[in-house]
Amino acid sequence: MEQKQYWNEVSSTKEFTIPIDAELFTRYVGKEDLILDVGCGYGRVLNELYEHGYQNLIGIDFSKGMIDRGHRQFPYLDLREKTDEKIDLEDNSVDAVILFAVLTCIYKDEEQKTLIDEIRRVLKPGGILYISDYLLGEDERNIKRYEEFAPVFGTYGVFELPEGAICRHHSQDYIVSLLEEFETREFFPTTFVTMNGHKSKGFCYFGQKSK
Ligand SMILES: C[S@@+](CC[C@H](N)C(=O)[O-])C[C@H]1O[C@@H](n2cnc3c(N)ncnc32)[C@H](O)[C@@H]1O
Repeated sequence: MEQKQYWNEVSSTKEFTIPIDAELFTRYVGKEDLILDVGCGYGRVLNELYEHGYQNLIGIDFSKGMIDRGHRQFPYLDLREKTDEKIDLEDNSVDAVILFAVLTCIYKDEEQKTLIDEIRRVLKPGGILYISDYLLGEDERNIKRYEEFAPVFGTYGVFELPEGAICRHHSQDYIVSLLEEFETREFFPTTFVTMNGHKSKGFCYFGQKSK
């Protein structure tokens, strides 16, 4: 929760960019299904799903600023402030969870694991987890900052932006181990444009909770 202040400060200015693969999503998730977007920001992805005909949508984010902006921008969406490590929903109650560019905001292994365990708890058996996030880059700019900050944060791939955000890029092996309790349905590398306009290596993942 330590970066909440940063996300509140940028909540009215940042535009998020990771695209949703709506065609792939519709192969796994039905229009009537209950979808939870964890770290939904101002609700950009949920709004896109809404425009594709999904209506059973909930978004949660620990930044009140993001949620307030979402209420102004998309007043018809159900966006809620997440005030605790626990997700305020029943066990086995959600058909699909979306997690877009949120792991990159959580640099500690244990905190990522806690969030993934919470997501697994609220997903129904057979429920889908759709993640898009960043992989380690191999370009000079990224390698330089990974090496500079590895001794500070203790993990290669974690770095601090000049504006104060601490971000993490992940190895594919790490992501596989983080998600080992899910059955992988799709996992492929891709390239994103970041919220600061740079090109970055990423991945798209669909996993399923065991039935
Ligand atoms: C890069 S933004 C992406 C927002 C949104 N998923 C999108 O793609 O448009 C990351 C969001 O995750 C939220 N966030 C970061 N860590 C979180 C946590 N531990 N719990 C809930 N939200 C978190 C931030 O407040 C921010 O809105």
